[in-house]
Amino acid sequence: MRDGVLVVKGAEETMTGPPAATAPTTVGDPGRCAPEAQARLVSLIPVLRDNYVFVLHGPGPGPAVVVDPAVAEPVITWLEERGLELVAILHTHHHSDHIGGTPELLRRWPQAAVIASGADRERIPLQTRGVAGGDRFTLLGRSVEVLAVPGHTRHHIAYYLPPWGLMRGAAGSEGPPGEPLDSVSPPIGPELAGPTAAGELFCGDTLFAGGCGRLFEGTPEQMHASLRQFAALPEDSRVWCAHEYTATNLAWAASVEPADPAIGTRLEAVRGARAAGQPTIPSRIGLELRTNLFLRAANPAALAALRSSRNDWTG
Ligand SMILES: [Fe+2]
Repeated sequence: MRDGVLVVKGAEETMTGPPAATAPTTVGDPGRCAPEAQARLVSLIPVLRDNYVFVLHGPGPGPAVVVDPAVAEPVITWLEERGLELVAILHTHHHSDHIGGTPELLRRWPQAAVIASGADRERIPLQTRGVAGGDRFTLLGRSVEVLAVPGHTRHHIAYYLPPWGLMRGAAGSEGPPGEPLDSVSPPIGPELAGPTAAGELFCGDTLFAGGCGRLFEGTPEQMHASLRQFAALPEDSRVWCAHEYTATNLAWAASVEPADPAIGTRLEAVRGARAAGQPTIPSRIGLELRTNLFLRAANPAALAALRSSRNDWTG
């Protein structure tokens, strides 16, 4: 791995290339990772018509990780203005509005790792590390779990980061509290405790606030199973959806369930946020469980009917 930035944890490692000759180093372990290098914060960069690019970074200048860069130029500007150095790119799937900025980002930061579904290497050719569902690795002091979430595309993956300083016992479940990883690091300051108290989910185009992705390459059964994985995450987990579709999704949901007070209340709040020019991302798993009809779908057939309704809905 380039510069030891990405540390895959021992037996949990799945590599598509030859195995490392020696045991993985622990450069990314927060116990040894400089505080400014720890990815405690997530920022959002709006790009194109309705895409979001996400940045994992520390409180000051230092290394950063970008998720699903649709384009490069605004991302480069954003990072440079803050003295951030790109060390890794995470991809959720192969669509151009999620990988389009990667070549130019690599021209600016050629040492950056590119992490993506190893099974989708032909469609995400610049990846330096192929991963699959169930893999875990450490990135800038954060534990990262890979979830296989087919449905929107056949090899779509998501990344779940447990709350900073914790590692879950098993993917898709709460598990035991896990090994605290921050025993050597300074405690999180009060200004950072809020934004990093919850887990972070980067779900690409699988789950949207109030909606889900179109089934371009997957079945309702696959999408239903993928969404069940998200539903099992802690309710306070922040959900970083890659598109600003929330108002349209909730307007559709309100048309399907006009008597649902939770959906109506959220729609009103979302319209207010959008009118003020604010993003509606991140969402939370708990909020989605209460207001997202796809996440509430009891079975694949119900999800398929909802998806068909949403596809045909014109507002
Ligand atoms: Fe997509």
